Amino acid sequence: MTTLFSTFDLKGHTVKNRIVFPPAVCFHYSGDDGMVTDRNYEHYRLRAEGGAGIIIQEATSVWKPQRLASFQLGIWSDDHIPGLCRIASVIKKSDALALVQIHQAGLITPPSVNPVPAGPSANEKYKNSRALLLDEIHIIRDAFISGAVRAKKAGFDGIELHGAHGYLLNEFACSYYNKREDQYGGDFAGRMRLATEIIRGIRQECGDQFIIDYRLGVNSPTLEDGIEIAKYLESIGVDILHVSHGGLLIHLPRPPKDFQFNWIVYSGTVIKTHVHIPVITVNEIKTSERASWLIENNKVDFVALARPQLADPAWANHVKNGEPVNICSSCKPRCKWYIDAETCPAVQRLKKA
Ligand SMILES: Cc1cc2nc3c(=O)[nH]c(=O)nc-3n(C[C@H](O)[C@H](O)[C@H](O)COP(=O)(O)O)c2cc1C
Repeated sequence: MTTLFSTFDLKGHTVKNRIVFPPAVCFHYSGDDGMVTDRNYEHYRLRAEGGAGIIIQEATSVWKPQRLASFQLGIWSDDHIPGLCRIASVIKKSDALALVQIHQAGLITPPSVNPVPAGPSANEKYKNSRALLLDEIHIIRDAFISGAVRAKKAGFDGIELHGAHGYLLNEFACSYYNKREDQYGGDFAGRMRLATEIIRGIRQECGDQFIIDYRLGVNSPTLEDGIEIAKYLESIGVDILHVSHGGLLIHLPRPPKDFQFNWIVYSGTVIKTHVHIPVITVNEIKTSERASWLIENNKVDFVALARPQLADPAWANHVKNGEPVNICSSCKPRCKWYIDAETCPAVQRLKKA
């Protein structure tokens, strides 16, 4: 039987188990230059040594004007490569697969970074927002491709394109945000053109063995659209899909009544039935029992747990060895890591231990 600790062959890379540490921005760890700091390095060292099979470095910006915050890690310049190389090396030293999520915030770019956020089209939800010019779309496309080339130079096994949570690539793919009438909008092919050009460019520049993962905003705006996007991404050479939400609270998929997980995890299991490439699912999986159920019942290929591994960097090893886990307190209204990791009750517990 396949278990949480079964290996997986991903394009010739042996992934040692089915546990993913998904991208999670470390707020205020880096500065305006987007350089990797010792604190970033240490954060990934602990998680890699903690046993997850795939570690995806947090959302890392390919173009400075569309960062999600002034402290976001960067991959927009060759100057970032040595720092990124430290993270890729320490992840690989623990025999984990090293990916980095590359990202543009689009309409979600905060005023502190850019007072006029830009996406496929202006959107009333975002104050002062405007549509990107054609030239800017080409700059961003090329920046994603250059970012992937830098990731490869830094030693990462691949990249994850952030196409979820209402950020730029999600916005382009989704008819709710994308009202363009030029070649980057209109029909399905138009809405997917930016992602298509980026994926083809990365494949051409980084080669066949380089892993291209796509974090899919599955309700974009409906689950049916998510399925269509997933199948299309597979057809153009994406290697693995990481299913998350599309940042919209409309048309939410409804899991069957007896399904013990939320609609995001459920959507991941639905996508798995429509594609042949591996699928990661995520969101409030929380425990090893629940994670195991998803893998053992072949509902998905990988499970991602963010907050559990923020709370306990060695979550995977503790589960493997039958040891107690330092449990995430599920802070409300929001995880403390969004403000200051030091205030996380689980981090404080670890420090006292
Ligand atoms: C502090 C924090 C930062 C996050 N940063 C990112 C990010 O950089 N990119 C991303 O795609 N998702 C990000 N997420 C979302 C997580 O990857 C994950 O999807 C979410 O936390 C749900 O999984 P969980 O219930 O296992 O925590 C972040 C989550 C947290 C708590």
